[in-house]
Amino acid sequence: MKIAITGKGGVGKTTLTSLLAYTYADLEYQVLAVDADPSPCLGAALGFPNDLLAGLTPIARMDELIYERTGAQPGTTGGFFKLNPRVDDLPDRFSAVQGNIRLLELGAVEMGGSGCICPESTMLRSLITHILLRMDEVVLMDMYAGVEHLGRATADAVDAMIIVVEPTARSIGTATQIKSLAEDLKLAKLYLVGSKLRNEDDRAFIMSRSPGLPILGYLFNDERVIEADRKGVAVYNESPDLAEETRNIVNSLQSV
Ligand SMILES: Nc1ncnc2c1ncn2[C@@H]1O[C@H](COP(=O)(O)OP(=O)(O)O)[C@@H](O)[C@H]1O
Ligand SMILES: [Mg+2]
Repeated sequence: MKIAITGKGGVGKTTLTSLLAYTYADLEYQVLAVDADPSPCLGAALGFPNDLLAGLTPIARMDELIYERTGAQPGTTGGFFKLNPRVDDLPDRFSAVQGNIRLLELGAVEMGGSGCICPESTMLRSLITHILLRMDEVVLMDMYAGVEHLGRATADAVDAMIIVVEPTARSIGTATQIKSLAEDLKLAKLYLVGSKLRNEDDRAFIMSRSPGLPILGYLFNDERVIEADRKGVAVYNESPDLAEETRNIVNSLQSV
C-alpha cells in the first residue's frame, strides 16, 4: 500500500499520517513514513523520542551524500551529474526506527514541476521513485499542499492519494486545485478525508462540497491532539476515538 497525503496547510495531514502509521503498524505491517514537508514535523507527531529525531538529517541537507551519488555539489545547476543516482540503501541508512515504523525525512528542495533540474531534486526524485516502485512496505508520504513530489513515472504506484479537508471553503478550494494537478499527472485514485469536524453540520458541509471525490472517512476535532503534542507522544495512543476513526478510513481504503 502506497499512500500520499496532501491538502491545505494546517488541515491535519501530519496528524492523519501519524494515525495511519500506527494503525498499519498495529495490523503488523512494516511502515515507512516519509516526511516530505520542507519543515519536518512528522517525527514529533509520531511521538518519536527527541534523541532519536536529533540523529535524523533530511536527505536534501546531506551535501556530501548528494555529491557522492550524483557527482555534483548541491545548489549547482547546469553542470553534469548523474540522473539516476544510487538510492536503494538510503531508506535503511538514514531513517529513524521505532517498532514497526520507520521515518525518513526528505527536507526542502524546490521540485517545481519540470523546471528545476539540480542534483538534490534529482536525488529526491530517484529516492521517491525507488520508495514507490520497489519498496515492499506500507508507505505513507506526508506531503504539503501539492503533488510536486510525484511525477508521471510514479503516478501508477500510488494506491491512494488522500486529500485532507477541514470543514472550510478554503481547504475545499485547495482540494479542488490539487485534484486538477493530480489529474494532469494521471493520478487516478484520489480520495478525501474530512478533518477537525465539530459536529454533523461539518460533515454535511464536506459531503455537499466535495469536488466529486469519494470520502474515505472523517476525523473529529479532538483536544487530545494538542495534549499529545504537548506530551510529545503519538495521538493514536491518547485518543481511542481518533484511532477508531482511522481504522474506519483504512477499512474504506481496503474496499474502494
Ligand atoms: N483531529 C484534530 N483535532 C484537533 N486538532 C487537530 C486535529 N488534527 C490536527 N489538529 C491540529 O491542527 C494543527 C495542524 O495539524 P497538522 O496535522 O500539523 O496539519 P498539517 O500537517 O496539514 O499542516 C495542529 O495544531 C494540530 O494539533
Ligand atoms: Mg504537516
